[in-house]
Amino acid sequence: VATLPLHGKNVVVSAGPTYENLDPVRFIGNYSSGKMGFEIAKAAANLGANVTLVAGPSHESVSGYPIERINVVSAKDMYDAMHANFDKADVVVMSAAVADYRPKEMANQKIKKENDDNLVIELVKNPDILKSLGEIKTHQLLVGFALETNNEEEYAKKKLTKKNLDFIVLNSMQDKEAGFQKNTNKITIIDKDLSMQQFDAKSKADVAKDILNVILNKL
Ligand code: C5P
Repeated sequence: VATLPLHGKNVVVSAGPTYENLDPVRFIGNYSSGKMGFEIAKAAANLGANVTLVAGPSHESVSGYPIERINVVSAKDMYDAMHANFDKADVVVMSAAVADYRPKEMANQKIKKENDDNLVIELVKNPDILKSLGEIKTHQLLVGFALETNNEEEYAKKKLTKKNLDFIVLNSMQDKEAGFQKNTNKITIIDKDLSMQQFDAKSKADVAKDILNVILNKL
C-alpha cells in the first residue's frame, strides 16, 4: 500500500459548541452542530493522520474512525484540551463555536424564580483559544474559521492577522447553503498572504476534503 499523505502527522481539530453553566441545570450555548469539524476530523483520518478531536456537546459521531475524541463542555475545558495537545500537533483546525462569554459565577443550586420580573446575570469574557495558540505556535499550521453576517472578508482578514493564522475559512451567514445545523457549506479560504480562494456550495464532507487539500499543499 502506498503511504497516505498525512501518515505520521498529528492533526488536532476542535468542533461543536461550548456550554457555559449558569447553575446545575442551565447553560448558555449556541446552535453549532459540530458537523463541519467532525467531517474535517474524518477527512484527516482518511488521509492517514493521527487525529485528536476536541468536541463540545454534539450528537455527531466518529465511531469506526481511528480518532481520539476528547469531550469537553465549556470554553475553559476546550482551552485546556487544545493546549494539552498543541505541542505534538502538526496541524490545528479550530472549527468550534466557542462561547465568547460565560456567567461570572456558576450557582451551586438551581437559580430560583423570584418575584422580580427581571434577572440580571453578569458575564465575563472567555479566553480566545485560537489567539492564544497563535501566540505560542512554532511549527504548527494553524487554521481558523469565521462566520460573519456582514463585512465578512474584511473581518476575516483582521482575524487571520490578529490570531496569527496560516489561513482562515470564511462561511457567510448570507449564503443559504452555509451555517449552523446545515449539511452543506459554502466557503472562501483566505491565506495569510491575503490571497482568496472561493469554493462552490457542497456537502460538509466535500468541504472538509477541500480544506484538507489546502492543508496538504502547505505542509
Ligand atoms: O473572533 P471569532 O470568534 O469570530 O473567531 C472565530 C475563530 O476563533 C474560530 O476559529 C473559533 O473557533 C475561534 N475562537 C476561539 N476561542 C474563542 C472564540 C473563538 O478559539 N473564545
